[in-house]
Amino acid sequence: MDLANSKLSAEDLYRQRTQTSEALSRRAREVFPSGVTHDSRFMQPHPISIDRADRSRKWDVDGNEYVDYFGGHGALILGHNHPEVTGEVREQLSRGTHYGASHELELEWAELVRSLIPCAEKVRFTGSGTEATMLAFRVVRAFSGKPKILRFVTHFHGWHDQAAFHSHESLPAGIPPALAENIVLCEPNDLEQVRQKLESQQDIAAVILEPTGASFGRVPTSGAFLKGLRELSEQYGVLLIFDEVISGFRCSPGGAQAYYGVTPDLTSLAKILAGGFPGGALVGRADVMDGMSMRDDPGWNVGGRVAHQGTFNANPISARAGLTTLKLIAEGNITEQANQKGADLREAMNEVARKQGSSWVVYGEFSGFHIFVNTQDVDISLEAIYAGRVPHTTLKQPMSLVHQTRMAFLAEGIDLISWPGGLVSAFHSEEDLEQTAEAYGRVLERFNPSRH
Ligand SMILES: Cc1ncc(COP(=O)(O)O)c(C=O)c1O
Repeated sequence: MDLANSKLSAEDLYRQRTQTSEALSRRAREVFPSGVTHDSRFMQPHPISIDRADRSRKWDVDGNEYVDYFGGHGALILGHNHPEVTGEVREQLSRGTHYGASHELELEWAELVRSLIPCAEKVRFTGSGTEATMLAFRVVRAFSGKPKILRFVTHFHGWHDQAAFHSHESLPAGIPPALAENIVLCEPNDLEQVRQKLESQQDIAAVILEPTGASFGRVPTSGAFLKGLRELSEQYGVLLIFDEVISGFRCSPGGAQAYYGVTPDLTSLAKILAGGFPGGALVGRADVMDGMSMRDDPGWNVGGRVAHQGTFNANPISARAGLTTLKLIAEGNITEQANQKGADLREAMNEVARKQGSSWVVYGEFSGFHIFVNTQDVDISLEAIYAGRVPHTTLKQPMSLVHQTRMAFLAEGIDLISWPGGLVSAFHSEEDLEQTAEAYGRVLERFNPSRH
């Protein structure tokens, strides 16, 4: 950053660098609510508009280059445009994009998923992660004959009605209270509260959680908690669902369940599963998944069976991209590389903060990182966060602060996800990580100028 730029506020610098993005954003607000097509892409004063991407980098319409930690919302552990994936997809384009029929690619894709994910005895592809958890809820209700699902506050399972709220007292607009009645909410990491709910309510079909904690560890959890949940779910006869939409094929080739050695009954998958293309899956125990099977019994098929459709389920493009990506993950050390880079980046950023005497901390596990934007100088440490001593209400940062943080990083050529934080791919380079740590130092100076 040159000296002239360092005198500008982060917002002035951001506005100066992103004038074409701003013009596009004005145009977008005429056609999209809030000018965006996904809530978490919304940003004040305006989001950047991307022109192209390659490996760990992307470029906006004003020609600015960014180190990308948005990572296609977590779908891109191989970075952008991995040559094997794009080569296979190009080949597939010429063979047809939608057969409206069964095909061998979907079979190979499912067999590979089954060989990687411990609980996956059977597989059903969906169009997205949201659809996968939606299907999970229906399947467990059908299997158990019980209506309720136990979820944890802050854990994200997509945007469908039964997933998209974190308090019965303040339901978001459009979610009918009658629907919400079938969701039981617990505080994250509170095993005793789960026990009490399971003891007092016999109509709970399943417990669902993100096995790495809310938003890939923004509110961390532990292997001990997962083991405790597994034991409780067995004791009370309820099914256990891991939502591995983000952790699947990322924590390890077999996801969080292989890493922690805790096997759930069902797992929802998406993102990396489809190699950067749309797609999801519900996988799990054969007896539960077979609730979707047709039988030679019209009564069962109409009244007993779980119905499931979806125009783009296992379309050949997603199948080919997913299959190619999962092969690379299964055969190489992609997840280890990404995890190591994640650890290196967290360490390098924390080192910068320590040197500057800043109270901000960067935490996370595997290939993720979360920035605790400590403008209030809260007494916080990595140990306290990992030990679960920091309430989730403290770890969730106000939207305006997230926007300010993202903007300050964007002005430095770094694109963060809105946790705020990011996802590191196996193809981020040493240079990317160094550039990010240096940029972090300048962001800290902007937020805490008195310390320097
Ligand atoms: C854990 C988890 N579950 C479900 C979803 C929803 O997936 P999708 O955006 O594909 O609908 C996400 C997406 O970020 C997720 O991280």
